[in-house]
Amino acid sequence: MAKGRKIYEGKAKILYEGPEPGTLIQYFKDDATAFNNEKRAVLDGKGVLNNRISEFIMLQLGGIGLPTHFIRRLNMREQLIKEVEIIPLEVICRNVAAGSLSKRLGLEEGAALPRSIIEFCYKNDELGDPLVSEEHITAFNWASTQEIDDIIALTLRVNDFLTGLFSGVGIKLIDFKVEYGRLYEGETVRTVLADEISPDSCRLWDASSGEKLDKDRFRRDLGGVTEAYSEVARRLGIIKEGGGAEILAFNGEK
Ligand code: TMP
Ligand code: ASP
Repeated sequence: MAKGRKIYEGKAKILYEGPEPGTLIQYFKDDATAFNNEKRAVLDGKGVLNNRISEFIMLQLGGIGLPTHFIRRLNMREQLIKEVEIIPLEVICRNVAAGSLSKRLGLEEGAALPRSIIEFCYKNDELGDPLVSEEHITAFNWASTQEIDDIIALTLRVNDFLTGLFSGVGIKLIDFKVEYGRLYEGETVRTVLADEISPDSCRLWDASSGEKLDKDRFRRDLGGVTEAYSEVARRLGIIKEGGGAEILAFNGEK
């Protein structure tokens, strides 16, 4: 499909104008970054895998009635999405202590949390996406109280669904990050799930061995990043058992 003008380039994805008004094309790059761009690499096939995994998850979430920006996958690296106004928040949901929560509160990684915890970060690369409270969000008008309520309710539904989905294939969902957008439809505005859900934006541990199957393999120099993402895709039935080569064979596709 012919792409329109590039309208935004992020660290792992590019957005182009879509074929019709109100649509965009989301292109998944192979670039990996961590610690706000301090650490960088190109991981062959990562974009292809994330495009497929995010498609699968967005379709499943759509299937249980969760509103998302996803329309359809176009090819190995691109998906057609609805144009939304991104709410400038990274919404994190945690089931088990890890990463920045463990650091901040001195909790051992892997310790169960008393309940699922939602955190908000202000989406701003220059500031390194700082943790903020609902007070900051409403005071600075990043989102309304109604939107925060919707975001919390939707994120808990995403968490319930994904926890079950992954647990069915022997994967523990430790935490994840999602983003939301405002979808303008005539007079109405709806809060919908946007961006992507993939091993770049989740912590996924093998349920029996505890092996990391997510971007922490890159952040922590553990190696085998795309192999781990392929394993997630294989377990979800997105690529065939023993497969993956067919996805990686499309690396050249731009
Ligand atoms: P954290 O423990 O580093 O705050 O990460 C929490 C979750 O959010 C984890 O699943 C990774 C994800 N995440 C992103 O998707 N993007 C980011 O920029 C960061 C820092 C974390
Ligand atoms: N996405 C962030 C970055 O590019 C950090 C991360 O995922 O760890 O720096």
